[in-house]
Amino acid sequence: MSEITSPKTPSRKVHIETWGCQMNMADSERMLALLAQQHYALAASAEEADLVLLNTCHIREKARHKVVSRLGVLRELKATKGLTIAVAGCVAQAEGARLLKEVPEIDVLFGPGKIDELPRLLDQHLQTGKSCMAVGFKRADKPATSPADLAISASPALSGKGEVSRFVNIQQGCNNYCTFCVVPFTRGREVSRHPEEILAECRSLVEAGARELTVLGQNVNSYGADLAEAGVLPTSGAGPFVDLLQAVAQLPGLERLRFTTSNPQSFTQALADLFQNQPKLGRYLHLPVQSGNDRVLTRMKRKVTVAEYRERIAWLRAAVPDVAISTDLIVGFPGETEAEFEDTLSLVEEVDFSFAYTFKYSPRKNTPAARYEEQLPESVKEDRLARLNALQDRLTIRHNLAEIGQVRPVLFHYESAKAPGFYYGRTEHFRLVRVAADRDLVGQVLPVRINAGNKTALLGELIRDA
Ligand code: 5AD
Ligand code: SF4
Repeated sequence: MSEITSPKTPSRKVHIETWGCQMNMADSERMLALLAQQHYALAASAEEADLVLLNTCHIREKARHKVVSRLGVLRELKATKGLTIAVAGCVAQAEGARLLKEVPEIDVLFGPGKIDELPRLLDQHLQTGKSCMAVGFKRADKPATSPADLAISASPALSGKGEVSRFVNIQQGCNNYCTFCVVPFTRGREVSRHPEEILAECRSLVEAGARELTVLGQNVNSYGADLAEAGVLPTSGAGPFVDLLQAVAQLPGLERLRFTTSNPQSFTQALADLFQNQPKLGRYLHLPVQSGNDRVLTRMKRKVTVAEYRERIAWLRAAVPDVAISTDLIVGFPGETEAEFEDTLSLVEEVDFSFAYTFKYSPRKNTPAARYEEQLPESVKEDRLARLNALQDRLTIRHNLAEIGQVRPVLFHYESAKAPGFYYGRTEHFRLVRVAADRDLVGQVLPVRINAGNKTALLGELIRDA
């Protein structure tokens, strides 16, 4: 009798590095899910991988430099062993053939609109040995997603810890053309996915174990405006975005629903009110303001004034009095005076943000602000950034220390890989909490008493139910 041995094909290993926004994180998950279908396993590091994927960000000049210098290291690794190098994301989209020319060791290059072509591009590269590239955008009409596609996005991504909290892209691109921003150039104009397709994806993610969903777009509040204009969705009522959130929130098993990024320009009273009526939305919103001065905002081509921003904050606080609000801020925009910068400091103090992502202005090719005169010296930008960060750190720490003694429902996302027995989760206010436990907490919402806190996290303990 002869035994049948099944020669196992050794699976190829992938290592992925993700820069930039949550949109890129969602895209990386999708790439890993597609690769899992192709029998790829996750490598512990680039050194152990057969395929290294860089999912890049183009939002600041520094980000591009980081990619090019990382490619320099990978190029050496490739010289010592077989390695496929793939570059995805916004640098790939924006630089395309130019980047291939600069770094010929890149085997596969594709933009955010071409993720689904990754398996085909890899195949083509393996067959031809040549570099393969796909950039450009989806057409604005309804993209058809097959049930097989949904299964791919719902399958647990190779990334591991992202299963409780998953991201869903609902919209690509941006129509706003803020004068500092490359996004409209790297991700194209706004294209919304059809709500039924989004709902089906959300449903299969929740069925696969997700407890929190974050729906993503560059400009989520204007979700569906294109579909309404095309007659695909009705124009009446609270608007397509509020309708979508309400529909997703109904999914049984879903504990929390978040969305980002909101643009204050299309942030409506109806959306603020939804926070009052839909507890799954939690008590947190990220609402980028960029500057606390109207002249700077106008030159950035932001479409709300500081007063209008304050009004939106007031709507939110009327709906949820203790709402936590975070923001994005740019310092050192061309021509920003010391007094105008101080207006930003005053606004930060006044709104009392729970957190802020702060940036030095970085001129981006093709954007209007890069051509403005009065570019500020690096030293001025650095000084302003340091002063802004010092202020925001003080506020963040004050908010976190004020949590001490409170009991908060925490949704646990993952167990610490470095310190087993420690679990990390988030409060409804989006504050990170660490708790020690002798049982698995992942995926559960449990009351936690907060005992301590610093700038980045809170420490707490589980409340035992009496
Ligand atoms: N320079 C500095 N910060 C920028 N951002 C976008 N473009 C630039 C730029 N050219 C910041 C904005 C945006 C966040 C995602 O990145 O604050 O909200
Ligand atoms: Fe960029 Fe402005 Fe669009 Fe945001 S709203 S992605 S900052 S152009």
